[in-house]
Amino acid sequence: MADTHTALEARLRSAFDSVAPGADPVLRASERADYQANGALALAKRLGLPPRQVAEQVVAAAELSDLCERVEVSGPGFINLTLSDTYLSGEVATMSADHRLGVPVAGRTETVVVDYSAPNVAKEMHVGHLRGTIIGDALCRLLEFAGHRVIRRNHIGDWGTPFGMLIEHLVDIGEDTAVRELVVGDLDAFYRQAWVAFEADEAFRERSRRRVVLLQSGDPETRRLWRVLVDESVRYFDEVYAKLGVLLTDDDVVGESYYNPMLAAVVDDLAAQGLLVEDEGAQCVFPPGFTNREGEPLPVIVRKSDGGFGYPATDLAAVRDRVDNLGADRILYVVGTEQAQHFQMVFAVAALAGWLPGTVSAVHVSFAHILGTDHKKLRSRTGESVKLVGLLDEAVERAGAAIAEREPGTGGDDLARASRALGVGAVKYADLSTERTRDYVFDWDRMLAFEGNTGPYLQYAHARIRSIFRRGEVDVAAGGAPPTLEAAEERALAFRLVGFSEAVAAALESYGPSKLTGYLFELATTFTSFYESCPILRAPDAERRRSRLVLADLTARVLATGLGLLGMEAPERM
Ligand code: ARG
Repeated sequence: MADTHTALEARLRSAFDSVAPGADPVLRASERADYQANGALALAKRLGLPPRQVAEQVVAAAELSDLCERVEVSGPGFINLTLSDTYLSGEVATMSADHRLGVPVAGRTETVVVDYSAPNVAKEMHVGHLRGTIIGDALCRLLEFAGHRVIRRNHIGDWGTPFGMLIEHLVDIGEDTAVRELVVGDLDAFYRQAWVAFEADEAFRERSRRRVVLLQSGDPETRRLWRVLVDESVRYFDEVYAKLGVLLTDDDVVGESYYNPMLAAVVDDLAAQGLLVEDEGAQCVFPPGFTNREGEPLPVIVRKSDGGFGYPATDLAAVRDRVDNLGADRILYVVGTEQAQHFQMVFAVAALAGWLPGTVSAVHVSFAHILGTDHKKLRSRTGESVKLVGLLDEAVERAGAAIAEREPGTGGDDLARASRALGVGAVKYADLSTERTRDYVFDWDRMLAFEGNTGPYLQYAHARIRSIFRRGEVDVAAGGAPPTLEAAEERALAFRLVGFSEAVAAALESYGPSKLTGYLFELATTFTSFYESCPILRAPDAERRRSRLVLADLTARVLATGLGLLGMEAPERM
């Protein structure tokens, strides 16, 4: 089933084509009617005709009677389209009978590699990683729902010169102590202590340098100690992932170290292609089009002057691996905006070297910052970076208190389950409902509010509908006859419901989960108005009761599915 926008657009396109080939209908949702097409304006200009006349011609040629009840030319030449109730109610019935709720499977199944989360070993996962983890996870769910083959890649920072000092520090404090510190997520303290020793003590520095060499040359004992650091950190990350309820597993962890054996070939192949330039002892590629403020060309440093490979080299190897070995059609990097230039340059070099063919797209899905209520970088009360486990525990605790206040009867397992769903959901929703390229303020009161565009509001809307069905002891079998749409609120709700697949498509298209949250919020508010003016269980007659139950059931299913695509739970009761 094609979504309404696509269906209307196709019909309009052929009508425009019959007037003059190739014109874009410029169709969008509209407050006036349901949709508005503004393409007649540009076309009229091209043809040198009055726009209203062109619009009239398009309307006369358009085959829309099965979709629209009214098609009118207004203003300077806009075409206003109002869908017919018969169409809307038929679509509701079709959606309702479809376990995918009208969302089509992608025409072409792609292999999409999604690189997200990517915290660093022996360093606290900071709130930036939280954002990437939440957004990346929602994108994976959306892509999978669209039928794509998704390969998750958790590109953790598990390699590089700091490991010399980290391993030496581990040796100094003893493995058991180290493990104890790491497992409780005291990663920053561990890192800081290592750094302090490194700064203070020449002998420690020397040992650290030797350790890096041993690590690189594959010395078994050094490798074992390195593994301890990696494993304990990953164990901590897993704890955060479990609390968050994200899809990432240990199988998705493919850290920087994985690409080590491929780095020499990156350098050799770039050299063989004549792309490498030596600059102050470093091996660099200067991709065209990248300059600094002074207008000088910017390098991608593939091999540093000390012989070490850096972050860009690893990402180049990763592109090759993902294209050649994983068969990626698309690679998404869900990483903060700070790294925009890094990715642009890596993509440019990979394209130059022929590693990123034109058939494969690489996209930096960037995101902005989470701020504290003081509008500065989010920090804990003591000024340290915020520990994610603590943050999520606090979310659950606060949600529990909020539920207990609202529904004093709730307790036991129900309360525990609802607190988790609501607390973690609130954190995720606050993030996903902000356009990803914008900063947002991490504000407990706002994200946990039961009113407004929040996770709890949507989860409650869903649970409330489910409770109607429990109270009425009705069980709406999926599908059934199309609902009768009489009241304006019934029609408005049907219209919203039918927009679900458009919202999913918009979210996928822009890698913007906020497109979906915006839709779900509108759906929930439309349902609230409907529910206020259209009694369901006590509807005036059997047909209206049935119709309203169909609408309510579909609303709950769309909410639950939509929240699921965002990685949020939709409890049946709260
Ligand atoms: N570990 C990096 C960081 O914390 C993010 C890695 C992102 N992914 C990548 N392929 N570079 O900033």
